[in-house]
Amino acid sequence: MVIFGAGGDLAWRKLVPALYNLFLDHHLPERFAIVGIARRQMTDDEFRQRLREGVDLFSRRGKAEERAWSEFASRLSYCAGDFTASGSDALIGRRLEEYDRQWETRAVRVFYLAIPPNLVEAAARQLEQLGVCRDCDRDRLVVEKPFGRDLESARDLDRVLTSMFAETQIYRIDHYLGKETVQNILALRFANSLFEPVWNRRYIDHVQITVAETVGVEDRGDYYDRAGALRDMVQNHLLQLLCLIAMEPPVSFAADEVRNKKVDVLRAIRAIRPDEVHKMAVRGQYGRGTVSGKAVPAYRDEPDVAADSSTETYAALKLFIDNWRWQGVPFYLRTGKRLHAKISEVTILFRPAPHQLFPAAAVENWQPNRLVLRIQPEEGIITRIQVKQPGTRLLLGPVDMQFRYSNAFRATSPEAYETLLLDVMRGDATLFMRADQVESAWSVISPILEVWEAVPSADFPDYPAGSWGPEAADLLIAREGQSWLQPAIEESLAGEGTP
Ligand code: BG6
Repeated sequence: MVIFGAGGDLAWRKLVPALYNLFLDHHLPERFAIVGIARRQMTDDEFRQRLREGVDLFSRRGKAEERAWSEFASRLSYCAGDFTASGSDALIGRRLEEYDRQWETRAVRVFYLAIPPNLVEAAARQLEQLGVCRDCDRDRLVVEKPFGRDLESARDLDRVLTSMFAETQIYRIDHYLGKETVQNILALRFANSLFEPVWNRRYIDHVQITVAETVGVEDRGDYYDRAGALRDMVQNHLLQLLCLIAMEPPVSFAADEVRNKKVDVLRAIRAIRPDEVHKMAVRGQYGRGTVSGKAVPAYRDEPDVAADSSTETYAALKLFIDNWRWQGVPFYLRTGKRLHAKISEVTILFRPAPHQLFPAAAVENWQPNRLVLRIQPEEGIITRIQVKQPGTRLLLGPVDMQFRYSNAFRATSPEAYETLLLDVMRGDATLFMRADQVESAWSVISPILEVWEAVPSADFPDYPAGSWGPEAADLLIAREGQSWLQPAIEESLAGEGTP
């Protein structure tokens, strides 16, 4: 595996800890090597030392154990080079050939582009020139999100990449698809017969998808200020979640079958006209505030962010899917940085029972059914149902039935990147995005991107760090007589249940 951008955050926090865990779990082949490439000068040992710090900090198993680490580290090496400048990384080619000679076989090669979107094309061209990624069966290219920065640039990038590599060699990664609970959405929907009959407009009132983060932009201000929440989260992670909730049952679990069904959803999302953007989408940017008891700066005061930045750190959308199953059911999506809690979850809100036969006094505390698919933290599924409360009076109230991964299973779940890296090595593209999927996702958000870029918000910053986002987001959903479900989330997180 060759990691371009190996000196960066992604390799440090995610990729190498994931590879190390795969190694510990004996998922890596006996003969494997990881070659890092980046601009900064580093010796192999310095590279290994830096990655070890990353593993100590971010591995799900905690600090690396000496013996296992040294065995793993012996497979790590580093090449300093500017991969965007022609000829500078010929070293990589030589190193790969050396491995093939040593192992007496032509190895499977994975080229991981852990680099900003604007460098992807240059790096891919370099690979093509070097001729190291030409075996359609054995050579694979992993491209991180966001893929392009809008529909046009994504199409251009696709054209460039597919002129050099086969589509089957290109793995467009969205790490949300590797998360255990995200994959469990498919299992829940299609391995149980309980849900399918009610999974439609007759029984479902609306769907809320929340991906809330407490972190700010950390040290990624330079990238984030050019991206914003729509590109960074909605175009990929949130729309992927929506696809999994809304897709028709696939005929099989074959990569293309699953991906076809997802593309169908994206294509059915009702296009938003420019004059409707203000009614269907809300943006926000955090000001200073307090998160988990700690004072934090405003977005505009973060490193590498413009002092007058109009980049959104929060986005909320209302989408409709124009097909038989979902006609008229709103899907609300929201995501933001520096929000009150770190929570990713999907809530399906069901319609009220069609006939209310209980006396009014009995149902004061009544709530419609809901199904919460929690992705993080405390991965699990919560079903809210109405029951009679104990006592001599007839009083109904909601209770939650909870399934928690941590209670139900002893084994810890692999990190999303572990699952996905292993899939790339095995050549399974089911959990990766195809070109048409990425382009359809850009088409969904393009009108919003265009309007927001043309008219910068005059109100930024408009939510304090540590809150649940701008007030306008509450209005977006209130127009349909609904509200975001954050209080319920907090109750459940505290493990108190309801009522
Ligand atoms: C990344 C985004 O794709 O996902 C980040 O670029 C974001 O801005 C991260 O913080 C969130 O991932 P997770 O797995 O922590 O929910």
